[in-house]
Amino acid sequence: SSYGKINIAIDGPAGAGKSTIARKVAGMLTYVYVDTGAMYRAATWYFGQLGIEPEDEEKVLQRLPDLVIELIPEADGQRVFVNGQEATEEIRSLAVNAKVSRYAQIEGLRSRLVSLQRQMALRKGVVMDGRDIGTTVLPDAEVKIFMTASVEERARRRYREMKEQDQITLEQLIRDMNERDRLDREREISPLRQAEDAHLLDTTNMTLDEVAETIVSMCLNFVRER
Ligand code: DC
Repeated sequence: SSYGKINIAIDGPAGAGKSTIARKVAGMLTYVYVDTGAMYRAATWYFGQLGIEPEDEEKVLQRLPDLVIELIPEADGQRVFVNGQEATEEIRSLAVNAKVSRYAQIEGLRSRLVSLQRQMALRKGVVMDGRDIGTTVLPDAEVKIFMTASVEERARRRYREMKEQDQITLEQLIRDMNERDRLDREREISPLRQAEDAHLLDTTNMTLDEVAETIVSMCLNFVRER
């Protein structure tokens, strides 16, 4: 039964630790984790395969109805399938990193992914991370977190989990990250922004366990007090 369950929205810039934390919190509460960034990445990979650039909005919208994204939870992460084809590793590549913010600016693409995301949260008990969850996707989420960390710390975290470390330096990654944050904050539709009722959580000097426990206790407090 979904009685007593709530939805948790976790937003913030790239590399703040949202996905690791969201997965951990979902595990602690036996909730479902939804990684919306993986959905934008999957779409980016799909259009890349088709040779359709983000500037060619008409073609993107034409092929959008054919796009099927599946996120299959696993013990230590998730597998991602695009129209039945596995793209778990491909969606984390530098090629996808470089273009995802530009596809994410396309209104028709966003509205399709947002409606899928809302469907996933209908029965509650969802921990969803992204950029616009608290503001746009789930404005009624019971607990909202806006998670940040210094850009240097965020780049270090991303660098550690990258498979292509030989192809990029930490300095370049910091520059890329600043640029992606700028595009995400300045885009017209659903920019990265802290919701008014979101808790700001700076994780620069916190361990993963500390962050996860802080969020879980916010949720338990909410459920107890309502
Ligand atoms: O969290 P991530 O790095 O996997 O996200 C990849 C890109 O997708 C990021 O540059 C912004 C975009 N994104 C978005 O626009 N809205 C979301 N809810 C999630 C991600």
